[in-house]
Amino acid sequence: MPAMERVEFFACGQEANMMAIRLARAFTGRRKLLRFVENFHGWADEVVLSTLGVVADEVKVLPGHDLNLVEEELVKKEYAILFIEGGGAHMAGQIPWDADFVRALPSLTQRYGTVCLIDEVVTGFRDSPGG
Ligand SMILES: Cc1ncc(COP(=O)(O)O)c(C=O)c1O
Repeated sequence: MPAMERVEFFACGQEANMMAIRLARAFTGRRKLLRFVENFHGWADEVVLSTLGVVADEVKVLPGHDLNLVEEELVKKEYAILFIEGGGAHMAGQIPWDADFVRALPSLTQRYGTVCLIDEVVTGFRDSPGG
């Protein structure tokens, strides 16, 4: 994975995501998370959908495939991190993304100072050897 500068191992995917949120909050000085419907990122309050969570008001859930909606949120400069299942929702793309949508996110998030996280717990090296 040529883009990789450093590797950090965790006990599970959700734990890696929680650490990513913590680091993104420290890095950006912001608290909020942006994420997409149907995508799974673990069962912690900050990443779970549709059950009661104590910090759910800090999480904004968007429909996929609408870059204008994403930018409308990013421009507020409130978001520490944006999550996406890079291969598509429900592990390995049962609800696939348009690849151009996913490819547009890193530069868009960077423009507004939000960290972009592509969550590939199951699919990483299956989708492609470079991740
Ligand atoms: C995209 C994604 N994120 C997070 C997780 C959670 O990983 P874990 O069960 O190792 O905590 C999974 C598990 O399947 C996943 O597919």
